[in-house]
Amino acid sequence: MERTAIYPGSFDPVTNGHVDIVERGLKIFDKIIVAILRNPAKEALFTVEERKEMIETSLNKYSNVEIDVFEGLLVDYAKKRNAGTILRGMRAVSEFEYEFQLALMNRKLNREIQTVFLMTGFRWIFTSSSIIKEAASFGGNINGMVPPLVSLKLKEKFGCITSADE
Ligand code: PNS
Repeated sequence: MERTAIYPGSFDPVTNGHVDIVERGLKIFDKIIVAILRNPAKEALFTVEERKEMIETSLNKYSNVEIDVFEGLLVDYAKKRNAGTILRGMRAVSEFEYEFQLALMNRKLNREIQTVFLMTGFRWIFTSSSIIKEAASFGGNINGMVPPLVSLKLKEKFGCITSADE
């Protein structure tokens, strides 16, 4: 039986840390569905369509990775996609409490679905979409922390494209 995991998140935008988790996940699962939450209640820098395009471009070498968008409860989406596992990345202990809560709520909602946590590679421990957006918004150089297309899109958003970037 094919082992499929759902890797859910906001991905606003995708970082090299996210890519690292997918690559680690592919060593365990046959297929990974990267699922972007469409959340009208949360203001995002990038539209869902922009986020999807950036993830697709960053992971297009993997034929067993699919990028999708979901709304509503994650466990309902996982069931609909026949995925028995939710994959989440963990960077630091500070994230544990939120992740623990999320995993236990998901388990309460559907006992058939398991959550698996993978540790991010050490070099990505400090990266997060929020901190990268903040650095980029002030013109900080975020090359190497995000896939090349994301770097370009962030610079476009914050109006700091230089001729050296083009
Ligand atoms: O990247 P994020 O923002 O930490 O991802 C959070 C996400 C999308 C995994 C979480 O908010 C989620 O699954 N939302 C969908 C609604 C849901 O099922 N919530 C958990 C149980 S109430």
